[in-house]
Amino acid sequence: MATVIVFGNEKGGTGKSTLAVHVAVALARQALDVTVIDGDTNQGSVTKYLANRSAFISSTKQAALPSPTLVAREWEAMPERDLAGHLTDSSADVIIVDTPGAFTPLSVTLHSFADLIVTPLNDSLVDLAVLADVDPNSGEVRKPSHYAERLWKARQARAARDGGSIAWIVLRNRLSALDAHNKRVMADILDQLAARIGFEVGPGFGERVIFRELFLQGLTLSDFEDKEAGLAWTVSHVAARQELRDLLDLLSKSLSVDLPASDYEPG
Ligand SMILES: Nc1ncnc2c1ncn2[C@@H]1O[C@H](COP(=O)(O)OP(=O)(O)OP(=O)(O)O)[C@@H](O)[C@H]1O
Ligand SMILES: [Mg+2]
Repeated sequence: MATVIVFGNEKGGTGKSTLAVHVAVALARQALDVTVIDGDTNQGSVTKYLANRSAFISSTKQAALPSPTLVAREWEAMPERDLAGHLTDSSADVIIVDTPGAFTPLSVTLHSFADLIVTPLNDSLVDLAVLADVDPNSGEVRKPSHYAERLWKARQARAARDGGSIAWIVLRNRLSALDAHNKRVMADILDQLAARIGFEVGPGFGERVIFRELFLQGLTLSDFEDKEAGLAWTVSHVAARQELRDLLDLLSKSLSVDLPASDYEPG
């Protein structure tokens, strides 16, 4: 049965779609059969990202670039029961699901099918509000917030449906090179919350322009690891690549998928 990884956060613009495509391509590159469900039916960022990728591959004849398969939209109109069948009958190894940065009933349902939820978070106390109500003066966690409660319900729905459990990784995205104080406060609060509402803190990603640039060609950092593809590394790829590798390591541990380390060292 396919392993389902859902990228979710009810706050917009935190890097869900960008990381969903990065992880999908990285897993496809490991010869896994990866399909992608674009649950953000309004914006369709992942659909656009993968369309840009197809266009790049055909215009440059980059046959060496592996790609996940985007699942056609029929699933959108399915009742929950049929969607469950659709997911459990999938022959894919991994299903990557992107969800919108806002509450929708469809997004709630998709969360409940996850084996693993990855929640990227912008590194600010404002963005943390999606997870918890935090005392602005003491930094103390008063209570979990709406998204945390919805995940708790998704876990209950999953357990009732098939007895399965959902792992949850929260990671900080767009970390600033400056602002050490904010970083420390965020780290402390996330540690408190992790124990309280049941997630693991994943490795973070710095603020890196490269993520915005790659979208236009539908490329991801893993594509630069392929010698055959012949894409040129730059310094900004290198730092970001290590962050992606750290996330993949954690995912592979959570999923029991063997992701061999790359043998390619940029010069
Ligand atoms: N680490 C990063 N450094 C710099 N830019 C980033 C980083 N991660 C994501 N971005 C950029 O931030 C913007 C938002 O990212 P993305 O679309 O992946 O977020 P999202 O959570 O899917 O948003 P939405 O909730 O609107 O679907 C994009 O322009 C993306 O290129
Ligand atoms: Mg998105």
